[in-house]
Amino acid sequence: MRKLTNIMVTGGAGFIGSNFIRYLFDRPEFKGTIINVDKLTYAGNAENLIDIDKIYGKARYFFEKTDICDLEGIKRLFEKYAMDTVIHFAAESHVDRSIFGPKDFMETNIMGTFNLLEVVREYWRGREDVLFHHISTDEVYGSLGETGYFFETTPYDPRSPYSASKASSDNLAKAYHHTYHVPVTISNCSNNYGPYQFPEKLIPLMIQNIQEEKPLPVYGDGKNIRDWLYVDDHNAAVWLIVNRGNTGETYNIGGENEWENIRLVHVLCEKMADALGKGKDHYKELITFVKDRPGHDRRYAINCDKIKRELGWRQSYDFGKGLDKTIRWYLDNLEWADRVRSGEHRKWMEQNYGER
Ligand code: NAD
Ligand code: TYD
Repeated sequence: MRKLTNIMVTGGAGFIGSNFIRYLFDRPEFKGTIINVDKLTYAGNAENLIDIDKIYGKARYFFEKTDICDLEGIKRLFEKYAMDTVIHFAAESHVDRSIFGPKDFMETNIMGTFNLLEVVREYWRGREDVLFHHISTDEVYGSLGETGYFFETTPYDPRSPYSASKASSDNLAKAYHHTYHVPVTISNCSNNYGPYQFPEKLIPLMIQNIQEEKPLPVYGDGKNIRDWLYVDDHNAAVWLIVNRGNTGETYNIGGENEWENIRLVHVLCEKMADALGKGKDHYKELITFVKDRPGHDRRYAINCDKIKRELGWRQSYDFGKGLDKTIRWYLDNLEWADRVRSGEHRKWMEQNYGER
């Protein structure tokens, strides 16, 4: 039986990680302690969990500003908290940034994961009540044509510096399981959306630009396809795997919800027009086709039959409901987006966490 008592969540100040921590504390049956380990890059914002900190801080929620590349720092945390579970979200996560500056991606995604695996290999030697869950992406499988799906058995074919670094980290996690018997599970998920996503990714960027009546940059012909999943559905799947997933296994998680970018941008324009009392096509005039992303993967589509069959997971948000909830959140939190885009949130973090 896994202990799931002292859980290190890496990258818990980012988009998916902060939603994950909130998801756990929203569940009355969850009795564990969370240690949120985050370096607080431009994408990390400890304020995302300020309410959780107020309720559970110093009892069942601890924030530790630490770089996963800092081996001694991670070891110290293992000694301090007797960690029995690691749920590893921390990463450099934006494809465009990886194209223009790949080094941070190699350091955090590959070397950071390697460090964590080294620490658990040492601290957990011979234990079976522990788990390292590695969060990954469908992008490691490459790019699809008009048909077909990514299965857990699809050979890896990463094509951006981001996906290459994630593929390397997945392979390291698998190798540590096979070679050293570290209890590892892995999940590969499709594109997430929801509250607290940094407004550089497609959906929050479009919401933000529509709200400010700025151009909506659509790459290439706008016909690239992504499979969208609401962040809580991803996190529900992660929690199921952590509880009941078979050690050594990989699980695909997906929305079964494929959209051409341009169609999705049209829907966002219409929903925003509805929310802001404008005519249906008002914001569509802002759409601007721009130069394509280099090496832009054409289509991602996940087959997630395995997690459905073996663990009984299902998506619970339909896309319309999820997008409405997301748009409402961004409109209610305009200040949040201003703060993270301007880097203002970092001053708050330095004041509150800088000295650690
Ligand atoms: P994000 O960029 O919003 O958050 C990443 C977090 O990791 C930030 O809080 C950042 O400060 C932290 N971090 C970065 N480098 C670190 C380091 N060296 N040490 C400690 N913390 C560090 O990313 P996200 O969208 O929440 O993605 C989380 C995970 O999910 C990533 O592993 C990503 O590859 C994976 N994933 C994301 C998506 C998606 O659509 N966003 C889809 C599938 C998988
Ligand atoms: P993104 O949110 O960056 O996720 P990923 O590249 O990891 O799938 O992009 C989603 C899709 O939207 C992708 O095909 C690139 C496209 N895109 C645009 O057309 N314009 C934009 O401004 C951004 C950020 C993305």
